[in-house]
Amino acid sequence: MKKNFCKIVSIAALLAFGQTAIAQQTYELTLDTKKVGAPIQSTMYGLFFEDINFGADGGLYAELVKNRSFDFPQSLMGWYTFGKVEVKKDNSPFDKNPNYLVLSNPGHAHKHTGIENEGFRGIGFVKDATYRFSVWAKKEKTTEDQKIRIEFINSKNNIIGTEELSINSTDWQKHQVIVTAKETEEKGRLRVFLVSKGSIAVDHVSLFPTDTYKGRENGLRKDLAQALTDIHPGIFRFPGGCIVEGTDLDTRYDWKKTIGPVENRPVNENRWHYTFTNRFFPDYYQSYGLGFYEYFLLSEDMGAEPLPVLSCGLACQFQNEDEHAHVPVSNLAPYIQDALDLIEFANGPITSKWGKVRADMGHPAPFNLKYIGIGNEQWGPEYVDHLAPFVKEMRAKYPNIKVIGSSGPSADGKAFDYLWPEMKRLKVDLVDEHYYKEPDWFFNNASRYDNYDRKGPAVFAGEYASHDHPTKKQNNFLSALSEAAFMTGLERNADIVHMCTYAPLFAHIDAWQWCPDMIWFDNLKMMKTPNYYVQQLYAHNKGTNTMTLLWPDKKAVTGQENLYASAVYDKDQNCYIVKVANTGTESKNIKVTLTGTKKKTTFTVGDCVVMQNNNLKAVNTLDTPLSITPTKATATMDGNILNIQTQGQSFGVYKIKL
Ligand code: AHR
Repeated sequence: MKKNFCKIVSIAALLAFGQTAIAQQTYELTLDTKKVGAPIQSTMYGLFFEDINFGADGGLYAELVKNRSFDFPQSLMGWYTFGKVEVKKDNSPFDKNPNYLVLSNPGHAHKHTGIENEGFRGIGFVKDATYRFSVWAKKEKTTEDQKIRIEFINSKNNIIGTEELSINSTDWQKHQVIVTAKETEEKGRLRVFLVSKGSIAVDHVSLFPTDTYKGRENGLRKDLAQALTDIHPGIFRFPGGCIVEGTDLDTRYDWKKTIGPVENRPVNENRWHYTFTNRFFPDYYQSYGLGFYEYFLLSEDMGAEPLPVLSCGLACQFQNEDEHAHVPVSNLAPYIQDALDLIEFANGPITSKWGKVRADMGHPAPFNLKYIGIGNEQWGPEYVDHLAPFVKEMRAKYPNIKVIGSSGPSADGKAFDYLWPEMKRLKVDLVDEHYYKEPDWFFNNASRYDNYDRKGPAVFAGEYASHDHPTKKQNNFLSALSEAAFMTGLERNADIVHMCTYAPLFAHIDAWQWCPDMIWFDNLKMMKTPNYYVQQLYAHNKGTNTMTLLWPDKKAVTGQENLYASAVYDKDQNCYIVKVANTGTESKNIKVTLTGTKKKTTFTVGDCVVMQNNNLKAVNTLDTPLSITPTKATATMDGNILNIQTQGQSFGVYKIKL
């Protein structure tokens, strides 16, 4: 262990413990207030979203019906039918989702026709909450008006909500009715009965809670969207992740398929449905109901800069060794055009082709897009060759848009070492780094960026999470503490690290493929992990400028004596913010001396919070979501000295107000 710190045995801190006296050591650090460092980007802490773990359909996207348009390859997946039900496609109202159903008289007074949807591992209903049921429908070959009954069914097969809807037209029309749930149920179902004696056609059968985030009809699940907003993210990456690339190019994320009327956004196979055979989800498809328009809206609502990542014409390289799986560079033009068109969709005037599409969807004002990523976890010369023409065209048409390139799937190794100089050569603005590593890696890499090249692109830590393998990668306190310790290094190097986003974001407790994840949920509840709170503490206490916080020997605090620390100045709040992770088991006294201050300056302690747990394996669960949360901490100010007593296994944030 290095002895490059100042350790003092404090008499005042001698603790009587039985007959033994334990000396609590004091560690001295210095914060030079004269050296206000680099600006911290508003984008520094953000969010990464991918439709993995049922994160969009079945998660953030509040639609409760799975396969609402009957256009999964098995057209009735997610549905049970009874009576006389036929799948048809000859007269669909939606050319990109051609299937629909015809429900007809079963031919016997005591028989019934109808359909029942299982939702996403059930449908969550909340007592007294209201739900908007909607359906595109028409009556068939009859002059008599037709009627359907909508029923909410609980897990005991009882009806816990019902309403009727008349279908009076022989033309396709949207019908809707509000239904109230009489009981709370986590694993409910939606049943639609044909009540009348004739025949009707139905398509796009949909059910949303009326109480969505911001009250939007094609809206987002309120608790989940609010949890994202509450982080105060500065940047919002979307739509992934590997989903950008697809298992093959056919299943890549094509943003143009995700805009316009939701009914006519074609269903796509979700690449995560078969990625892990031990976590197999053959019913995982993307409705694109949460598409690029909804993404830009959410970014705006949260005050985060959008950061879309688009396909570079390479299908997932892990899954495609055959070079023919990819688009040859000579045929990249439509992919490059897609990227340019996305910028026009976000920023173009309403007189432009794609700006008009945005305006027609309800947002005439531009979304003010500033960043775009090209390619996800790509590697090798084929990536560089694919990226180069994107950069060239982007610079020519949109010189102010910042372009993000990839450093491959790992934060070290051959692909990484090859790509960084190539990214520098291509003059991308930021390089996306991914690290899913053990907690020890995070502890050992707190100084990763201290000696990074300052002359090239900035860093976007675009996907990272601490994976505690012995606990099957749980979101435990150890993982959160190791991320907190590591992030002192991101903060200290904010001159070069401009963005970071934990990944993945969401996981449905019954339908996940990947863990750990930042927020877990079922059909009713949500749980913020300790990792969520670490991200939130950094984002809420971002500051505006880096400061140097040093041991007396002028070294940064990067794990010596199990301490990790960083500091920022916040010019808007006129305060310093000190962050300390104590990863040892013992509590420690820390004195932070503020040097270079004017004699008359008085400092006071502002809000201080801490996350602490004696059990590194402790977790939050859906039933005990608040076991590990930040709590109020104390610290004292003695002139220009901040006194902190950090508990063992803790991460604290301390404010010093001027
Ligand atoms: O975050 C989950 C996956 O991890 C992402 O889709 C991919 O980019 C990475 O390998």
